[in-house]
Amino acid sequence: MFGSPQNDRKADEVAGSVAAGVARVGWGLAQAVYEGGKVEWMVGGVRRGALLGGSGVVLADALVGLPVVPGGLVALAGGGYLGVKGGMTFYRRRAVEHRIHESVSGAFGFEAGTVPIGISWDHELPAVVSIKVPPKSKLTRSDLVDIESLLRQTVFAGRGYTWAFKWDLSTGSCLMRAVKATPSKVVAPSSRAVVSADLSIIEVGSGVDGAVEWVPSKEAHVLVGGQTGRGKSGFVARVLTVWLDRPSEWQVVVLDPKISGVVPVDNHPSVLAFARELDECADAPERVVDALKYRKSLFLEESRNRRKMIRDIGEYRRHVGPMLRIGVAVDELSDVLRKSGDKTDTGKAFDGYRARCLTALDLILKQGRSNGIHSVLATQRPDASILPADLRDQAGFRCSIGHLSRSGSEMIFGDERAAELDANLPPGRAIAETWRGDVEFQTYLVSDEELERYAFGDLSGVDG
Ligand SMILES: Nc1ncnc2c1ncn2[C@@H]1O[C@H](COP(=O)(O)OP(=O)(O)OP(=O)(O)O)[C@@H](O)[C@H]1O
Ligand SMILES: [Mg+2]
Repeated sequence: MFGSPQNDRKADEVAGSVAAGVARVGWGLAQAVYEGGKVEWMVGGVRRGALLGGSGVVLADALVGLPVVPGGLVALAGGGYLGVKGGMTFYRRRAVEHRIHESVSGAFGFEAGTVPIGISWDHELPAVVSIKVPPKSKLTRSDLVDIESLLRQTVFAGRGYTWAFKWDLSTGSCLMRAVKATPSKVVAPSSRAVVSADLSIIEVGSGVDGAVEWVPSKEAHVLVGGQTGRGKSGFVARVLTVWLDRPSEWQVVVLDPKISGVVPVDNHPSVLAFARELDECADAPERVVDALKYRKSLFLEESRNRRKMIRDIGEYRRHVGPMLRIGVAVDELSDVLRKSGDKTDTGKAFDGYRARCLTALDLILKQGRSNGIHSVLATQRPDASILPADLRDQAGFRCSIGHLSRSGSEMIFGDERAAELDANLPPGRAIAETWRGDVEFQTYLVSDEELERYAFGDLSGVDG
């Protein structure tokens, strides 16, 4: 009977209400009372025994001459159990509290216990820890990363939880929330189960605060970096499958110069172009640029006709009628942009295609937003010599899947945060800078069955 989940809960409830004062649990004539780290049990209103919290010491005198009263033994066992359990909770909290004090102070470089913190508990685990940052600490982002990683090693090892941090350096505080640790695999929910009214928004993964979204109207383009085998192509596949499922919102252009990573969706009705060879990788974005220029002239013309300001796709849709967004996915940007410098005729021809591709992408990145043209660019080699900084700056949603080199992290985020990531993170574990702020998340994994459906199966979308 004892030790069952129900009684565990009961014991926890009892232990959990210490802070509030006294807790009572009764069965028939018997009753156990937990107070200030000590459990006492009563039978028929008479005190029969006690256990001191944490110590497990039984007050022997109270046990002498214990009469057998119906329910009494049950209460005795129950009280004892609650006492031990409650005492352990008390004891464990003290131990955890100590560890938090130590690591928080240590993280800021102060002596243990000197940084003021407040803890609220969920049984034996801390739920929220608020820290008053020592006034003299001038913290840089890289300090925060160090401190977070130190604190992450505290308390939760192996318990399936981790800390979510919210820093507010203007008030000199940090709030650490215990959150379920991100799982190492999250299968993508079917994009056919569309509930959002805004079909442009794409859920790309799962973070501690729920789904992580790419919102193209806020962040026109996505840049994804990551070393080999981390999940960049998986990320692109997720975005692609959502685009394909929404033919009333999206048309699609794919550049796959590696000829490996991307789902072969050439025949899908929403796909305008699927480029593999370098010449195709120059042609395809140029066609997108044609569409972009046409849209700009259309906006101008409709503005004049209707005497309305039509400056972007949103205003066009409001005043004129439907207009699809165009999504451009590039899996391995460096393969289409990195100049070889090869002086042979073939080398020169290839570099010519690359230059055309860059010119087209430049326009797509800089002018795509207002014209409903968006891109997802994935690369193993985030490098300013491949993607110039002014183009990089157009990507509002920037993401690193796993660890990056220092220079790679600098290129994507402007600092070294991705270089600080553990090199052994599971594939798909990502950090991103989005219009909503910084997030850590697990990118959605699209199953092979789903991918096969898009590539070879039923091609009708949900919304079309
Ligand atoms: N979100 C994810 N969750 C779990 N596993 C994943 C996830 N994304 C990718 N993987 C696993 O990692 C493997 C490599 O992923 P992917 O091909 O996307 O890597 P990549 O970054 O594109 O590598 P490369 O740079 O070599 O092309 C996949 O086959 C898959 O098994
Ligand atoms: Mg890949």
